[in-house]
Amino acid sequence: MKIDNNGILISEKSTTIGAEFHETRGKSALLRSLVDDPLHQINWETPYYNKFIGECLDGEELSEKVCLDLGCGDGRFTEYLINKGVKKVICLDADYEPLHKLSIHSGKEGYRDKIELIHSGAENIPIENGSVDVVLALGVYYYLGVKQVNGLRETCSKMKKGGILISSEPNLEGIALRSLLFNTLGDMVENFTNSNFKEEQNDTKYRFPLHEEKKLLSLYELNGFNLTYKKGLSIFHQIIRIQYVRGLISKEELETNLDKLKGIFDYLDEKGKMNKTIMYKHIKK
Ligand SMILES: C[S@@+](CC[C@H](N)C(=O)[O-])C[C@H]1O[C@@H](n2cnc3c(N)ncnc32)[C@H](O)[C@@H]1O
Repeated sequence: MKIDNNGILISEKSTTIGAEFHETRGKSALLRSLVDDPLHQINWETPYYNKFIGECLDGEELSEKVCLDLGCGDGRFTEYLINKGVKKVICLDADYEPLHKLSIHSGKEGYRDKIELIHSGAENIPIENGSVDVVLALGVYYYLGVKQVNGLRETCSKMKKGGILISSEPNLEGIALRSLLFNTLGDMVENFTNSNFKEEQNDTKYRFPLHEEKKLLSLYELNGFNLTYKKGLSIFHQIIRIQYVRGLISKEELETNLDKLKGIFDYLDEKGKMNKTIMYKHIKK
């Protein structure tokens, strides 16, 4: 292992399907940089993720906590943890570009010395066992494909007993509804029968595990975690964004309704049942 000129620790290259998907797509998940776009789904969703993370960490002495942001991307949630006052965040991603962006951004924002950047896979975390208090793995484990369980097991071994894992996973019903509305009936049927989903419209070999919730939670349980809290994230944000991108909703219509939409999103956060994603809090047994 070596540290490169950008101060990024270079470990074993991930060979998971999600790492390959991001690489071949030539498009990194730079989600922090989208938070500022008021017409983007990421702008609408991020406050609800932050709220959930805040609830999971409520009452914890954060200045003592060593955190690991697995599949950190360009650090949308790393920055949230830093602003909450945690001791340090170890940021790991299989894609180099977002790590580089995070290195530059954290320097500008004055918290580069509070983060460590690692280019590796969630299935291979090159840090000491039992060293981490809090792990974020938001929108990550399914990208590991057949190595999803390896990722869970590896995460568990890096955590202290009683440590907190905050993750999010695709919700079968929400993803199936999205397939039906925006892809094909065949794609929707495949979600249920083959337990997988794709993120692109065209035919692709990049298909990711999509478990029924009971099965998903049993994987967490079997790999050392106890579920203590969960919350759904509405699918409405994404439906509206896709309709906008496809020209079914105009910019003017969206802008005119934006304030009211924010109120509706708050309602859906409290009472909605149609979830694209479920966020989970687990404790290491
Ligand atoms: C949907 S993005 C989420 C990024 C970030 N957690 C957020 O929500 O802003 C998924 C991230 O997982 C990363 N990823 C994919 N496969 C991975 C693997 N095997 N190990 C670590 N990261 C991986 C991708 O490069 C990407 O940055």
